[in-house]
Amino acid sequence: MNMILSDNPALLSSWFAVARSIEVGSAPVQITLLNRKVVLWRGPSGEVIGAPDRCPHREAPLSKGTVSDGCLVCPYHGWTFGDEGRLVRVPSSTEGVPVPPRGHLTTVMVEERYGLVWVCLGTPTSPIPTILEETDPAFRRINTEVDTWHTSATRMVDNFLDITHFPFVHTGTFGRAQDTHVPKIELDMLDNDWYGYRYEIRANNSDLGTLASGQTDGVVERAMTTGFNLPFNVRSEIHYGTGLSHIILLLSAPIDDVTTYFTFVVWRNDDFAVSAEEIIRFDLAIGAEDKRMLELLDGVLTLDQTTLVSVQADKCSVEWRRKLIEMMGIATPPAVAVSSPSAAG
Ligand code: FES
Ligand SMILES: [Fe+2]
Repeated sequence: MNMILSDNPALLSSWFAVARSIEVGSAPVQITLLNRKVVLWRGPSGEVIGAPDRCPHREAPLSKGTVSDGCLVCPYHGWTFGDEGRLVRVPSSTEGVPVPPRGHLTTVMVEERYGLVWVCLGTPTSPIPTILEETDPAFRRINTEVDTWHTSATRMVDNFLDITHFPFVHTGTFGRAQDTHVPKIELDMLDNDWYGYRYEIRANNSDLGTLASGQTDGVVERAMTTGFNLPFNVRSEIHYGTGLSHIILLLSAPIDDVTTYFTFVVWRNDDFAVSAEEIIRFDLAIGAEDKRMLELLDGVLTLDQTTLVSVQADKCSVEWRRKLIEMMGIATPPAVAVSSPSAAG
């Protein structure tokens, strides 16, 4: 398999959301990130600990073991690991005999943020991106499950930064088949952590859409921003004239080069009248439309700048790819080349 992503040092030094916090409870959990199996469990002081899912004794998968008083117990011979992955018990050894020093687990970096468990396999070079609404009491946060998409993280980000597919892919939700033209895209820092663009769209608003928009008109106006934070984090903001804001954080974590965890988080400043489950059904339906499309495409989005053809409306995705190539140290990218705005029509 082509390992463009899984062996890249910059990606090994990046944070990825791999599970919901509520999923890491009384039992160990196995996740795979960049082709490496990791066990997660909640340690003695309640924090999530992560380590390669391989016992240093005879390589049993620790995720098949149990957690007892916050200690991870290997299913094979019962070696037991506590805070910071330290080996605290070898059942076959006489009491009082020190544990072998090389028996401690080498842990990976773990943080909990936005209801999610984030893992960095190396030494992080940038922080987890900030969502200001997380600490704004006017907003509530809604988490969704971590799904697995059979496509590359690069294809997902390319899709999440793209609005030209709305009238084609999202006709079952908010997309309007008649609104295909995209005005000229200008990129800018949206705020400290997010780079992207602002735009306005008209969105179809029926069925589930009315719950999300809080309006009953057949079509609603949205002022939006879409931006990225390297490597694979995307934020979309939807602002309605009513003052309602709906912020979506779209997170892609490579399981391997062609399989990806996807989860999204929503922040809304609504009156909490509609349940989180009902609100989120619309976004889940939109996500399913994207997933269906992307799983038809082969493998990794090519990361060179010349193979694919882009137009002005692809500007954000082209710029994200340029910055990603730079971050990943793959090659010196040529200048961003997009055709004139008229080609976007
Ligand atoms: S393999 Fe884990 S205790 Fe032996
Ligand atoms: Fe989409």
